[in-house]
Amino acid sequence: MYNSRNIIIGLIIFAAFVTFPFYNNFGKAVTKPDPKLDTPEIQKFPENERRCVEPKEFMKAGHMQLLNGWRDSVVRYGNRIYVNDAGKEFEISLQNTCMKCHSNKKKFCDECHNYAAVKPYCWKCHIEPKEKET
Ligand code: HEC
Ligand code: HEC
Ligand code: HEC
Repeated sequence: MYNSRNIIIGLIIFAAFVTFPFYNNFGKAVTKPDPKLDTPEIQKFPENERRCVEPKEFMKAGHMQLLNGWRDSVVRYGNRIYVNDAGKEFEISLQNTCMKCHSNKKKFCDECHNYAAVKPYCWKCHIEPKEKET
């Protein structure tokens, strides 16, 4: 005979297993990343014109694909000019374009990457911005 009490206990145990990964991470010393935009290059623009090469939401989710596209464009096709959706041109360069604006790599790129536990290997060859140790 099925015992409804046992079924309920079973369901609670099941739910505990399924959600374990969530509250196991709860309260760990990982603060949500807060990428900073306070670099001299970005501050040069008036506040309402501080934009990335593409809209923020796109960059957030797709900057790795964009960078892959940029690399292919240079390495395979020899094209060093990127035209964004709004028709604005950028030099295709990780170091001279991305990192010129985002010169605070530690407080920007790394802040998120540490949180997401990704470690792009790009800096073995590409030059990182020089930053003061903080
Ligand atoms: C002209 C300066 C400039 C350049 C060049 C630039 N960015 Fe940005 N980036 C910004 C600004 C300003 C924002 C914030 C945009 C906003 O709030 O709408 C931003 C936002 C972002 C974000 C989202 C951050 C978040 O908080 O979600 C990522 C990721 C990013 N940039 C990566 C890159 C990469 C990779 C490149 C090179 C392909 C690049 N940026 C080139 C100025 C720049
Ligand atoms: C808003 C958070 C955030 C910011 C800011 C950010 N990244 Fe990322 N980045 C991520 C996440 C999350 C991933 C992993 C995405 C995935 O695996 O799908 C990633 C992945 C990457 C990758 C691919 C790495 C790999 O091994 O696959 C590259 C390259 C990269 N980021 C470059 C940059 C650079 C350069 C900057 C600073 C200009 C930057 N990112 C800023 C969140 C961010
Ligand atoms: C083994 C060395 C090496 C590694 C690692 C590497 N690259 Fe490159 N990358 C190069 C070389 C060499 C070029 C060609 C430089 C040129 O012609 O200007 C290049 C060109 C590029 C370009 C276009 C030109 C430029 O100056 O930015 C982009 C964008 C780029 N790489 C992104 C990345 C990203 C993103 C990563 C990490 C996910 C990465 N690369 C890792 C060696 C490397």
